[in-house]
Amino acid sequence: MDTEHQKKIKQLFDSKFVARLIKDQAPDFAEKYDLSILTIKPIKRNIGTQSHHVIIQYNSPSFKDKPIFCSSSSDQNRENAFNALIFIQENGFKNTDIFLPKPILFDKHRNAFFYQGIEGENLLHYIKLNADISDYIKQTAEWISTLHEITTNGAENLNKQNSRIETIVPGPEKFLKKIEQKFPEYFDTVKENFKALVEWENKNLDDQKNLALVHGDFHPENIIINKSNNKVSAIDFTDICVSDYARDIANFIQQFRFMSLGRLSAEKIKHYQDMFLRGYFTARDIKKDKDIEKRIQLYSAWTALRSAIYFLLKSPAEPENANTVLKEAQSIVNQNE
Ligand SMILES: Nc1ncnc2c1ncn2[C@@H]1O[C@H](COP(=O)(O)OP(=O)(O)O)[C@@H](O)[C@H]1O
Ligand SMILES: [Mg+2]
Repeated sequence: MDTEHQKKIKQLFDSKFVARLIKDQAPDFAEKYDLSILTIKPIKRNIGTQSHHVIIQYNSPSFKDKPIFCSSSSDQNRENAFNALIFIQENGFKNTDIFLPKPILFDKHRNAFFYQGIEGENLLHYIKLNADISDYIKQTAEWISTLHEITTNGAENLNKQNSRIETIVPGPEKFLKKIEQKFPEYFDTVKENFKALVEWENKNLDDQKNLALVHGDFHPENIIINKSNNKVSAIDFTDICVSDYARDIANFIQQFRFMSLGRLSAEKIKHYQDMFLRGYFTARDIKKDKDIEKRIQLYSAWTALRSAIYFLLKSPAEPENANTVLKEAQSIVNQNE
């Protein structure tokens, strides 16, 4: 027997229910498309008795190459992603041919965010194939620089908690307590590095000129390549906020390397990282100096520490991976001292 929670979330897999929801909550969108024959393609389908994480794709011939996606999770608020996309759509990506997913609706009852996106594989898929990804890397740099060029006026309150390392959820009280219970041997290292990074960031963040609308989780699995025209777009806007733009750069560089380890040679990884950085700085006409290099170091360490926390707390935990990235965080923090 399904719980009420399960019944409610399973409705997202019912094409008639979803067509009705779109007609009711996004009538302007519904008017442009034929919603009578939606086919459902589950991408992630984890539905527990009280919790869930689902990603669903809906196709209809009238969508052509722009299907609808629904993203819903019990542990992360999706309304922020919806509001962020509305803001971005109104303030940027205009007059470019760079693709931005189109927000459709937010269903409060199921914490479900619907958007019109593109169909394709993520960048990690192409890393695993050892394909030539030069063009995708350049487009990724352009995509994120386009986001960073958007005005932050009016965006200050988007996901404010996420703007600083100090307050990013789940927050130190929660994650340190859990680490102490599950992996006490890592407790001190995580705690000390976290403290060092918070102090480091707090010295930097007053500099308004470095603030931008940042994606907040900019890694290869959140970059999709359109299978019909090879154009790149980002997805997964849950963590968007106003912060130092170096955060996205570092996040991408660091996670790209981590996900490529054992798949691409060290030279190739460096080659693509440099390509990304060059593309980014050229697009924004920014000089690469000591200051930005330092900030990238800071957020690389933060990305590594955040991954370590994730690997320790996920189930099943991955302590070996946690150890690898924790050492990376530690080594960057040591260099800075
Ligand atoms: N528009 C999309 N096109 C193709 N694949 C997608 C799309 N949206 C999500 N996916 C796939 O589902 C994965 C998870 O989706 P995402 O929105 O990043 O949610 P989360 O990371 O919170 O699970 C992506 O890494 C990607 O492989
Ligand atoms: Mg994701």
